Amino acid sequence: MRGIARLALSLALALSLALEKAQALAAAAAAAAAVADTAGSDPRAGKNSPAWYPQGGARYATSHATKTPIPGEDHFAETFDVETILEFHFHAYFFEHNPQAKADAMRLRRELIDAVARGDFVCVLPGVTAAMIPGLNESEIWPIDDGPIGPHPVGQYEIWVPDEHLAAVMSFIMIHRGEVSILFHPLTQSCIEDHSGRAMWLGPPFRLDLTPLTRGTDHCDRPQYRSLGLGYAKRHVAGAALI
Ligand SMILES: *[C@@H]1O[C@H](CO)[C@@H](O)[C@H](O)[C@H]1NC(C)=O
Repeated sequence: MRGIARLALSLALALSLALEKAQALAAAAAAAAAVADTAGSDPRAGKNSPAWYPQGGARYATSHATKTPIPGEDHFAETFDVETILEFHFHAYFFEHNPQAKADAMRLRRELIDAVARGDFVCVLPGVTAAMIPGLNESEIWPIDDGPIGPHPVGQYEIWVPDEHLAAVMSFIMIHRGEVSILFHPLTQSCIEDHSGRAMWLGPPFRLDLTPLTRGTDHCDRPQYRSLGLGYAKRHVAGAALI
């Protein structure tokens, strides 16, 4: 009898221990699930995490090999909708923690501003004024970025140029670029394509982060400086109404 009682007691003990363990396991699982919820952007959470796959514009353009070939039609799916490109950006890049690199980029900026002030051509960059370009709305000028922003991996400033002045500005930058790397890209409704397949470089290229770019008509670079009546803002020109 005594042996049976002892057996029952040890069985009960084992059962309660098992229950405790099960409860502890359940609590641990719940805690892990809660962590997975709050860590939705942590790629270590694996395929359940939104950060596991490329996001934004990086979903459409990647340098990775793909498991299956991309159909040829898809290369043209992203709205090759502009007959003629009428506005462009040059982005002058500089390593923001390297004084020489920044000084070289600022030297080019100064020389461009001086050329605009002389009336050699029209382009808009930080430092040009309405006195140099009549009708310019100076508050629309994008300031110098002293670090990465949007798709740009290092410090940069933007130079907007309409097609009327593209050759002159291109020539000037080719001659005066020094060691500055310049991204050259068009402004259309296909922001991602503009910064990848349609982009060109003067000097060694940098890798852009396409993640912040958006697709389709929600383009990131709208036609700019419309008050100047240049580029897409010019009247009675085929293609001008496309954007
Ligand atoms: C100049 O640009 C700013 C910023 O886009 C805008 O708020 C303002 O109305 C513009 N001024 C004129 C005179 O168009």
